Amino acid sequence: PPLSEILNLHDFEAIAKHTMPEKAWAYYSSAADDEITNRENHAAFHRIWFRPRILKNVTKVDWSTTILGQKSSMPLYITATALGKLGHPDGELNLTRAAAKHGIIQMIPTLASCSFDEIMDTAAPGQVQFFQLYVNKDREITKRIVQHAEQRGIKGLFITVDAPQLGRREKDMRQKFEAEDPSEGAARAISSFIDPGLDWSDMAWFKSITKMPLILKGVQCWEDALEAYDLGLNGVVLSNHGGRQLDFARSGIEVLVEVTSKLKEMRGLSFPNEKFQLFVDGGVRRATDVMKAIALGATAVGVGRPFLYAYSAYGPEGINQALQILHDEFEMNMRLLGARNIKEVVAGMVDASNIHLH
Ligand code: FNR
Repeated sequence: PPLSEILNLHDFEAIAKHTMPEKAWAYYSSAADDEITNRENHAAFHRIWFRPRILKNVTKVDWSTTILGQKSSMPLYITATALGKLGHPDGELNLTRAAAKHGIIQMIPTLASCSFDEIMDTAAPGQVQFFQLYVNKDREITKRIVQHAEQRGIKGLFITVDAPQLGRREKDMRQKFEAEDPSEGAARAISSFIDPGLDWSDMAWFKSITKMPLILKGVQCWEDALEAYDLGLNGVVLSNHGGRQLDFARSGIEVLVEVTSKLKEMRGLSFPNEKFQLFVDGGVRRATDVMKAIALGATAVGVGRPFLYAYSAYGPEGINQALQILHDEFEMNMRLLGARNIKEVVAGMVDASNIHLH
């Protein structure tokens, strides 16, 4: 169908499934084991309901915000997804260009298909970018990557902590990736350098080699969020890697509820918080999903697969359309919720009583 008939982010997935190269579909769509967590990620948003406010003069609504001190036209960013060229020859550059056009931030993955410098050279002057780091067993290599990223102006370092070993994504494994061991699938073939020996004591080292804000990507319970806060890190992404790692991990939006509650109880923090920012990713498909996370204390959320599907199916126009759809959804839903700006999207506007505290 023509792009003009695409009405929401789910549509891109449905089209991409039938139009993308099979190998790319297998890698992008796959998740760990029985894919229960992958399904739960979106389903968890269905357990949260709105409590809209009325008569607030919502003639003008503004859904822009700041993320780690950087301006963003929406409270969401493009999260890191590896191997961008599987779906389209321009790979991650599609995301870079669309992010510039729409004023949002792209998180560049360690395992991008395009080189880091190519992506940075494609970025518009002053365009804000984050970087996702997989920590190499060889820390000298990691140090070089981190310091190069900082020199090139990266504004936030997201250290992935949920992948000491890559999850089993059976759909992907069945595709028999040609590059290395044919039984392992695309993901495993490229990830053997990742250090399973990474631990909390490495965090001081990261602080010593860079001044970029440090965020842990893949935190899944309040205990680890508290540890990150106590170590002076700048935030955490509550994420299960799009359901691609530990199956039966909980969704990020569910974990958000216990993290804000426990960090308030134990450290007196309120959220959203400038000094220690909370992010959520996994299953975000609508502006309403984003608004639920914001109401519950997140600074912003990450979106992964929908953008891959959008550019794989329709090229650069596809991702522009995906971002335009999100802008349109924000405009309408902010009005209907009775929030004139992101600061007015508050906890009292959601009923999260179906999310259990732990
Ligand atoms: C990912 N994700 C990911 N995360 C990361 O830290 N490093 C990586 O290299 C990748 N690669 C990757 C590839 C693909 C194809 C997907 C789908 C995901 C995880 C990603 O950052 C994010 O956590 C999820 O994608 C969020 O879920 P949704 O939005 O895809 O449902």
